[in-house]
Amino acid sequence: MKKISNICCIGAGYVGGPTMSVIAHKCPDVKVTVVDINQKRIDLWNHENPDKLPVYEPGLSEIVFNSRGKNLFFSTDVDKAIDEADMIFISVNTPTKTYGKGKGQAADLKFIELCARNIARVATNDKIVVEKSTLPVRTAEAIKSILHNTGNNVRFEILSNPEFLAEGTAIEDLLHADRVLIGGDDTPSGQEAKNLLSAVYENWLPKERILQTNVWSSELSKLVANAFLAQRVSSINSISALCERTEANIAEVSRAIGHDSRIGAKFLNASVGFGGSCFQKDILNLVYIAKSFGLNEVADYWEQVIIMNDYQKTRFADNIISTMFNTVSGKKIVFYGWAFKKDTNDTRESAAIYVANLLLEEQANIVVYDPQVGEEQIYSDLDYLGTRSEEENRKLLKVTTDYMEATKDAHAIAILTEWDEFKTYDWNQIHDNMLKPAFVFDGRRMLDKAKMQEMGFDYYKIGES
Ligand code: NAD
Ligand code: UGA
Repeated sequence: MKKISNICCIGAGYVGGPTMSVIAHKCPDVKVTVVDINQKRIDLWNHENPDKLPVYEPGLSEIVFNSRGKNLFFSTDVDKAIDEADMIFISVNTPTKTYGKGKGQAADLKFIELCARNIARVATNDKIVVEKSTLPVRTAEAIKSILHNTGNNVRFEILSNPEFLAEGTAIEDLLHADRVLIGGDDTPSGQEAKNLLSAVYENWLPKERILQTNVWSSELSKLVANAFLAQRVSSINSISALCERTEANIAEVSRAIGHDSRIGAKFLNASVGFGGSCFQKDILNLVYIAKSFGLNEVADYWEQVIIMNDYQKTRFADNIISTMFNTVSGKKIVFYGWAFKKDTNDTRESAAIYVANLLLEEQANIVVYDPQVGEEQIYSDLDYLGTRSEEENRKLLKVTTDYMEATKDAHAIAILTEWDEFKTYDWNQIHDNMLKPAFVFDGRRMLDKAKMQEMGFDYYKIGES
């Protein structure tokens, strides 16, 4: 069997960057080139300063700096990288459609199609094309049809190899993946392609963790894995609302049910609601696919996971308003955290954005502190909602890099992201700084209720009465 020696990845985002850096790190004999049309992003991947990489992930900069310039390259020369590669990963974004048929639910595949057409235009020798992006089941059919009609005698094998890394733990997840999924055709050339990709991963992962399936099972499994994970969060969040009314404690309920090995302990942390670029997008996509096959009950079942998540975000904001005497107008509310989870600078679909939006509708004055997310990103997230003018967003919401200064004369603090550093703050000093009563709304269940109350806070924690 021939070996893969030259890999190209189209898309230098949160998946393409870290995934290819780990492949380059673990396969020093393979040349890996990550390409993107976004010049600014590529310049940042090539930046001298490790703090400037476009993706913040623990352990990422070490791996990039170890291989960059040796067998790992970042470039905007997409055609050249495609031409030289034996294996091409497509790792571009597949957001929810914002227009036309399927608007608000279906995945927008225009970037995928552009990649397929680019490959078809440039390729002069046989290639293995790997879907790394998360795609609706049967997308490979469309890619095949574009690639197989070039008339230039180039043979393409299409594989599905969805990515399961979670942000904030991407490097750990890639180095110690629970499993790698490779879907491909059962033809001899399809089997050979699957084995060639498998051999890349076998450089660091045990063979039994590399699962081979047909293309459609692989595409669908990625959507289903995200739907099951998100469903657990919505399930526990629904119970958190009940705990708040009954004096049951969500941490105790999570522990009690998680000890059942059939249920398991992971993904049972109640929160202000899940965010991230994928859970909502992928479930909406699943809902759309089910509907398009006339499976309305299946669609409704999964849609409920999103409805519950929206309810949790609204519930958190409503609770802030009602607890603060039914008005937050003109009151200073400090947000600790803006990212959708800790250890990432990604804010896509972060609960913080929606909670802020609801409070701004009530004319609150918000001050945001996040250790990794900057002012430009925060305003862009808010402006994107289009709820109010850009000027008004900047008037009502300020961004700070000083978490302590922000608490001076604040009416309330809302914890939106579970950054570890929040636990280490001098909460006594924060209490002194704030107006009284000093409210803390803990959307991540980070702090000790008894201690906070002892310090004098009016402390509210998701999932406890
Ligand atoms: P991203 O937006 O961070 O990166 C995508 C990149 O693709 C962008 O930099 C964009 O400029 C580039 N791009 C788009 N069209 C291009 C083209 N025609 N040619 C060259 N470059 C192009 O997206 P992401 O978070 O890395 O996600 C990529 C895919 O992986 C999505 O399908 C997503 O669902 C899936 N996924 C994401 C995660 C995650 O944690 N973010 C995890 C697993 C799977
Ligand atoms: C998720 C999946 O975990 C990955 O396997 C998948 O590859 C990825 O989506 C994807 O396809 O994009 P990610 O969104 O990066 O990864 O992060 P998660 O750790 O899954 O967290 C998602 C959201 O759920 C976060 O807002 C997090 O705070 C929230 N969450 C998670 C909870 O509220 N409670 C939990 O118990 C777990």
